[in-house]
Amino acid sequence: MRSLIDVTDLSTQELYEMMDTAIDISSHPEKYVKKCKNKTLATLFYEPSTRTRLSFEAAMLELGGNVLGFSEANSSSAAKGESFADTAKVVSCYADIIATRSPKEGSAFVMANNATIPVINAGDGGHCHPTQTLADLLTIYKEKGRLDHLTIGVCGDLKYGRTVHSLIGAMSRYENIKFVMISPLELSIPDYIKNDILIPNHMDYKEVYSLEESISELDVLYMTRIQRERFEDKDEYERLKNSYVLDLPKMDLAKKDMIVLHPLPRVNEISVKVDDDPRACYFKQCLNGKHMRMALILKLLEEASNNPVREKLITKDVVYNQYKCTNPVCISQTEQELDHISALDSKNKYRCIYCDKEVNQ
Ligand code: CP
Repeated sequence: MRSLIDVTDLSTQELYEMMDTAIDISSHPEKYVKKCKNKTLATLFYEPSTRTRLSFEAAMLELGGNVLGFSEANSSSAAKGESFADTAKVVSCYADIIATRSPKEGSAFVMANNATIPVINAGDGGHCHPTQTLADLLTIYKEKGRLDHLTIGVCGDLKYGRTVHSLIGAMSRYENIKFVMISPLELSIPDYIKNDILIPNHMDYKEVYSLEESISELDVLYMTRIQRERFEDKDEYERLKNSYVLDLPKMDLAKKDMIVLHPLPRVNEISVKVDDDPRACYFKQCLNGKHMRMALILKLLEEASNNPVREKLITKDVVYNQYKCTNPVCISQTEQELDHISALDSKNKYRCIYCDKEVNQ
């Protein structure tokens, strides 16, 4: 039995197989209407969501399954202080698979380590959002016809943008991918993404400020929201919130076959006037997300049925309780009696196993 915490938990071959399944689901939905009969998905959302929670629920319903869950921490016993570990053990008694989102980085990992059913990370703080990446990959694949030989611009909040972190991890598998990281200095890509993904995989990337100056070289433009909820300093958010707005004059500078993606929700970073441009693919991305989540549910439930034993989540060499993570939103700060676990990265720095942030040594 396997969970999905990070998109790199899936091999390149598995990603292609899942995309094939998702395309087949979209062409022949009638073949899938009973595939999850008598199975139940629990959506445990401690943080707001429209697309991810509802597309998971629609996915399970369209597979003939059932859905239960909560959509905010305050309507669950988390409000009384129940741990993620205990919640996972309890919900394993009521459901066959869990999709969970929380502002705590590493919370899905902790749940997966305690559940007796598969757990899907539907977003853990600014850390990972692997099922958004499944939607992104299918959209790029369908629109561009390939996942290699692409120049991808990621624009906006690259520091807290978990969708960007997961996308870079996924694209590291494909040949000749170049990333153009477009952000203000304060929201630039974290060092751990460079040290763990970009540098070891010899990926071509550059960091720039101007969207206007870089848009003409892009095959894919991945816009992101500046996320108010991730900022500790609200003045900094106010200063940075309008850094980038994609509008029609900027689209005029882009290639005729560039595609625009956005995980949504948007606030004002893409003008609604861009929506009618055939290169705007962000609403197609939402539908692709549902089909990929259907393919993922099918895959994880089939694996759990064939082998109910939980796969080991920690596969690296680690040290226990030698270093403490100081990331204020790491699950290790709040979860009851959780070991502090760290692993060495490619730069010989210890990083927290839950949130990937460097620990003080
Ligand atoms: N893309 C995404 O995660 O959207 P929601 O926050 O609405 O789920």
